[in-house]
Amino acid sequence: MEVVIVADAKAGGELVAEAMARLLRRKPDALLGVATGSTPLPVYEALAAKVRAGAVDTSRARVAQLDEYVGLPADHPESYRSVLRREVLEPLGIPVDAFLGPDGTAEDVQAACERYDRELAEAGGVDLQLLGIGTDGHIGFNEPCSSLASRTRIKTLTEQTRVDNARFFDGDIGQVPHHVITQGIGTILEARHLVLLATGEGKAEAVAATVEGPVAAVCPASALQLHPHATVVVDETAASEL
Ligand code: GLP
Repeated sequence: MEVVIVADAKAGGELVAEAMARLLRRKPDALLGVATGSTPLPVYEALAAKVRAGAVDTSRARVAQLDEYVGLPADHPESYRSVLRREVLEPLGIPVDAFLGPDGTAEDVQAACERYDRELAEAGGVDLQLLGIGTDGHIGFNEPCSSLASRTRIKTLTEQTRVDNARFFDGDIGQVPHHVITQGIGTILEARHLVLLATGEGKAEAVAATVEGPVAAVCPASALQLHPHATVVVDETAASEL
């Protein structure tokens, strides 16, 4: 595992965007695994700036979703499908039909999860998966004690994650869904390159457990230690417990 400490969130965004740009120059139809949350936003902004400057072409890129709320209509502004359309596809000029994601509104959620795992494999697998990290060490929506071999499946959110995510729902935890679909940790580990980005003091403990703790389900992100090509990009505050 490679750990890169950068000055701040903007520098982290630039570094990860450049890694994505390099990949796209080598493989224009690369499948980029993208994450939601506030942390990846500087990455998407920096990559969009490169597209505008003609430094990279994203017109053939493909995008895969990491996780999704169950039960939110796809056009709900906070469904991750809508969020990623707004924050990634539109600014990067990537067409909607180049976007893979699980169906959080499916009647048979389990079948939708299995279908999504198959679709990822049939698409040739994720080339670069960008990950954020929850304050409890979760990746995607794999909460602590998720199996490190897990596949895409339905999960119940912890109270802490619902509290953390209430800010996207007018601060009203009552609006935050209880259930989600998430790529499993085993699924995530199949991506060719994992890039975890963490910024801010609030992530310092989770980052220390990820990088220096034992590989353990209690900190799902520690599974990155098992991956042959994992990069952890942290700003100085998120690195403060290392
Ligand atoms: C959610 C997402 C994760 C993300 C996490 C942290 O739980 N499912 O993929 O990493 O939030 O979000 P933030 O980057 O806003 O702290």
